[in-house]
Amino acid sequence: MIEISVSSAAGGYSVTVGRGIAAELAARISADAGASPAVVIADANTGPLLGRRLAEGLGAICFEIPPGESSKTLAWVERAASAAVGAGVDRGSTLVAVGGGVVGDLAGVVAATLLRGIRLVHVPTTLLAQVDSAIGGKAAVDLPEGKNLVGAFKSPVAVYVDPELLIGLPEREFKSGLAEVIKYGVALDEELFTRLRDRRAEVERRDLETLTAVVERCCAIKARVVSADEEERGERAVLNYGHTVGHALEAATGYTRFSHGEAISVGMAAACAIGVNVGLTPAGVEEQQRELLDSYGLPFAAVGAATTEQVLALVARDKKARGGEVPWVLLEALGRATPGHRVPPDVVAQAVDRVLAEVG
Ligand code: GLY
Repeated sequence: MIEISVSSAAGGYSVTVGRGIAAELAARISADAGASPAVVIADANTGPLLGRRLAEGLGAICFEIPPGESSKTLAWVERAASAAVGAGVDRGSTLVAVGGGVVGDLAGVVAATLLRGIRLVHVPTTLLAQVDSAIGGKAAVDLPEGKNLVGAFKSPVAVYVDPELLIGLPEREFKSGLAEVIKYGVALDEELFTRLRDRRAEVERRDLETLTAVVERCCAIKARVVSADEEERGERAVLNYGHTVGHALEAATGYTRFSHGEAISVGMAAACAIGVNVGLTPAGVEEQQRELLDSYGLPFAAVGAATTEQVLALVARDKKARGGEVPWVLLEALGRATPGHRVPPDVVAQAVDRVLAEVG
């Protein structure tokens, strides 16, 4: 079991990674929670898996939402907040999010706003949530106009990561998380990239020792980056490597055709091509990234999924765009991404054209 510290303006917290830690959660959380009633938020999958048992151990209710992005709305924030008020929460209460990114995001918005803020504990159950969304305090819900448009920075008081929970994940969900894991390797940690390449068989068959080491490494990277730049004023943007085209592709295809990780995988291919075209990324890096994505069965192209014009229009509306210009995260080398690059529009169009036309 390891504890990773995260600095935050709200006071800092630990990410505890440990196999089997899910069985100890009630004792750990209630030791810090005091006498105020706790509330568990889960979804219809993670409630029966863990949330209800944990709620029982805490003497709490388990509020369950339908699984999937369609629950990440203000309407579900209101329902969850009403249920928590009905359960008697006060300002000392703890909200425990048991689930993937959707549950964690929704719970973050509820915890940030209910009674002007209550304590939040994350128990991420998907690979993506364990290595990314549960760490760093970003919380948001969607509007009809777009994803993650209403939210806040809400640091948890603790994050508990149990890699054993990954064993039962559906394959596509696991792969989706692996795309973010690969992103850490490509953008921030060449050693992790090499480990993912050399230990692919163990990672793919979810060997717990290998998986735990990989999850620990990714949590440590994320903790380091968000501790240095919690509110994404600079360096934190490197975590968005591959996300500009990835998000646009998800939006252009109605969030149904590609998992988040598949879209990010294609987005990484586009970002890498842009880096090569502007002379920043060594050409060999593109080949290395493509080989790794391909070996894990992740796409580096999305043939005919959308038109280049659609994707470019959505890229221009990216949350990070300023005055119509999007700052790009590009690779200077394998394991070293840097944010804030200006790229001529024709270079972006060429890369998007390529990922939408290439057989991948
Ligand atoms: N998922 C990107 C970030 O937390 O900043």
